[in-house]
This record gives sequence, structure tokens and C-alpha cells, in this order.
Amino acid sequence: MKILEERILKDGQVLGKDVLKVDNFLNHQVDPMLMQQIGQEFHRLFKDQPITKVLTVESSGIAPAIFTGLAFNVPVIFARKHKSLTLKDELYTSTVYSYTKKVSNHISISKKFLKADDVCLVIDDFLANGQAVEGLMDIVGQAGAKLAGVGIVIEKTFQKGRHLMDEKGIRVESLARIKAFEDGKVIFLDDQEA
Ligand code: G4P
Ligand code: NA
Ligand code: NA
Repeated sequence: MKILEERILKDGQVLGKDVLKVDNFLNHQVDPMLMQQIGQEFHRLFKDQPITKVLTVESSGIAPAIFTGLAFNVPVIFARKHKSLTLKDELYTSTVYSYTKKVSNHISISKKFLKADDVCLVIDDFLANGQAVEGLMDIVGQAGAKLAGVGIVIEKTFQKGRHLMDEKGIRVESLARIKAFEDGKVIFLDDQEA
């Protein structure tokens, strides 16, 4: 997605060797006009699927997920990372290990919002190691629901998440695909390489 790539080049900051800071439009301050275009793009890519729910994990996945749900006219569920006050047997839960932060989080979704007849589209801000997406896939499986695909705003193709999804035969559509950071600069995957 050209305007997203341009925005990354303009406002993204490379931190260390594998982190892109995008807190100007996605991870802290949010650009709703860009998020709306992102939602419309995910709709264009996945409109062949009978999506009934958009799923994400709090907090940074929520903004792109909301606009995707708006484009599909379906509800958006964000998995919660903190212990809920509700009884545990009312929740689907999974464990997500963050390689970046070196901590495990439990994520959960209430059983009342996800049913066996749901067709889910998972949306997230980043695909790095793929653990967040795997946790959501686990929950979709527990509910007996169907996973139609995964929509990612920014994919880092050099980390292992994409490979993991490909191995499982999951359809992943990423709006920006970064193949490397070189001398603090972002290098996107060419169309021919994609
Ligand atoms: P994963 O999300 O693919 O499983 O990878 P990883 O465990 O490495 O990511 C841990 C957290 O770091 C996730 O956010 C993920 O979105 C974020 N992240 C990974 N790579 C980058 C990056 O290059 N730039 C930025 N800005 N974030 C990155 P989270 O812990 O779920 O937190 P939240 O921000 O959604 O609340
Ligand atoms: Na995220
Ligand atoms: Na994040």
C-alpha cells in the first residue's frame, strides 16, 4: 500500500537492528484517516470471504481492526491481555510469548462473542514472530470457528512470523512488507519478490 509505505519512510524510526517505531501514526498517536484507508484495503483484499468477526489483540491492533470491521460491517473483538474478573470457564485463553519483551501474556476472549459459525479475520499492527497471531488462531480453534485469513499492517519478512503462517497454509495479506533495515533505513520487499 503506497501511502502506508510513504508514511513509514516519512515518520518511521528504526531502533536498533529490528524494531520500527511508528508511534506518530499507529502505536501511540493514531492517524484515523490512514486507519480508514487501511480498513478499506483489508476489505478489498478479503471481501471474497464471508467474514463475520474481526479479531485482534489489545492495544495496538485495535485501531486498524476497528476500521476493518467498519468496512465489513461486522463486530470487532479485541482479545484482552489482563486477567478478567469474569469466571475463567467463560473465556477462551491462550498464551502469547513476546520475543521482543521476553514475557508471556495470557490473552482471552469471552465465549459469548465467538461461536462455531463465525468466520474470522485476524488483524494486527505488526507481524514479527507471529506469536500474537498464533494465540488468536488457537482461540479461533477452541471456539470451533473458521479463520479466513490474517491482515497485517506492517510485516517484517526477516523475522519468523511469515514463515510460520506460510507453513500452516494461512492466508496473510500485509500492507507493507519490510525485508531489512539497513543503516537505519527501511527497505521494502519489491513487488517481484513478494
Ligand atoms: P509478534 O507480535 O509477531 O508475536 O512478535 P513479538 O512477540 O516480537 O512482538 C511483541 C510486541 O512488539 C507486539 O506488541 C508487537 O506488535 C510489537 N512489535 C514487534 N515488532 C515491532 C516493531 O518493529 N515495531 C513496533 N512498534 N512494535 C513491534 P504487543 O506486545 O502486543 O503490544 P501492543 O503495542 O499491541 O499493546
Ligand atoms: Na500488536
Ligand atoms: Na504493538
